Amino acid sequence: MNDKKMTRRDFLAKSGLLAGAAVLPGTTLTGKEAPVSKAKAAGLPGVYGPKLKFRPDGTFKIVQFTDTHYIIGHRGCPRMLKLLPAVLEKEKPDLVVYTGDMVFDAPAVPALKEVLSLTADKGIPFAYVFGNHDAEYDEKQPALYKAALSVNGNVMPPYEAEGKMDYAVTIHDHEGKEPAALLYCLHYYGGNPYDRPMKDQFEGMPRRRVKGYAWITKDQVEWYSRTSEGVKEALGRRIPALAFFHVPLLEYRYAIQDPDTTFIGVRREGIGCPELNSGLFTAMREHEDVMATFAGHDHDNDYAVLYHDILLAYGRMSGSDTVYNHLPIGARVIRLKEGKREFDSWTDLHDGTVTDAWTYPNSFVDGPGNPDWK
Ligand SMILES: [Fe+2]
Repeated sequence: MNDKKMTRRDFLAKSGLLAGAAVLPGTTLTGKEAPVSKAKAAGLPGVYGPKLKFRPDGTFKIVQFTDTHYIIGHRGCPRMLKLLPAVLEKEKPDLVVYTGDMVFDAPAVPALKEVLSLTADKGIPFAYVFGNHDAEYDEKQPALYKAALSVNGNVMPPYEAEGKMDYAVTIHDHEGKEPAALLYCLHYYGGNPYDRPMKDQFEGMPRRRVKGYAWITKDQVEWYSRTSEGVKEALGRRIPALAFFHVPLLEYRYAIQDPDTTFIGVRREGIGCPELNSGLFTAMREHEDVMATFAGHDHDNDYAVLYHDILLAYGRMSGSDTVYNHLPIGARVIRLKEGKREFDSWTDLHDGTVTDAWTYPNSFVDGPGNPDWK
């Protein structure tokens, strides 16, 4: 731990994380729960923290940071600590989504706050979901969630209960009147309960553990379906949505192995998904609101692949040399377009260069209106 880190942490502690921070026009970073809105009463997700809306030109820019694997004072972290503010300075996003594995050792709470405050320091709202590593050290998920809630600019609802921290973020139209897009933020809760043999009634039969990562739980799939239907009923229509979570779905593996799919980006390792499919993709396909999902977790994969009309994408590993990574670190940028089931994306690298710019869905599909298709 060097002096610089101590100074910064001292500063954050004393200043409540945000003294003197620049705040984006039209937003107020309070870090506190806003009063439950009329929208929530009408069946729409509540709005917490800064109210998000499309810009007057009809765009809304999101930066995804993933897998920063921060350890306070570790010599492998300065590159990441430089990358995040540089990307924010260059892209000036309307929202940052941190998709898990932000910290990689104890003490987890101050480390998490430090990473999240890189965004808050620039007056940019943020959302955060757990990866598989965040709660492996000295703090459990509820403490980490509450720590994120204490950082100014979060758009996360108050803590409710363990295992029930998923939330939807509403982006309003450019006038700030109607919901125009939704972001589903689903945590990795861990604890695969079937990583053990079945018991008793199968005595004498071959038994096998379900190894690997925990899957999106049944509760989470039901929460997504309920939220999606609630929005449709309240508005009388679907609005375009994205989903963010840490561990890729099994469909990421199906899609990249399917010779009939189109993908853009890099696959340099296997797909670290659960072994069982708990149905989130099927639910999203049925509800027809989610255009794309964005995962982290596999540091050497950053591809996006179109699968049954839903784009399955990774973010670019943003993080530290405390863990394996063989791609230049960077961040995924997503530019939504108000009223359209279409968005642009590109990857900003640590040296300021941009790679893999594409548009959903045109860059991935054949047909009229796609002059780039070969
Ligand atoms: Fe990771």
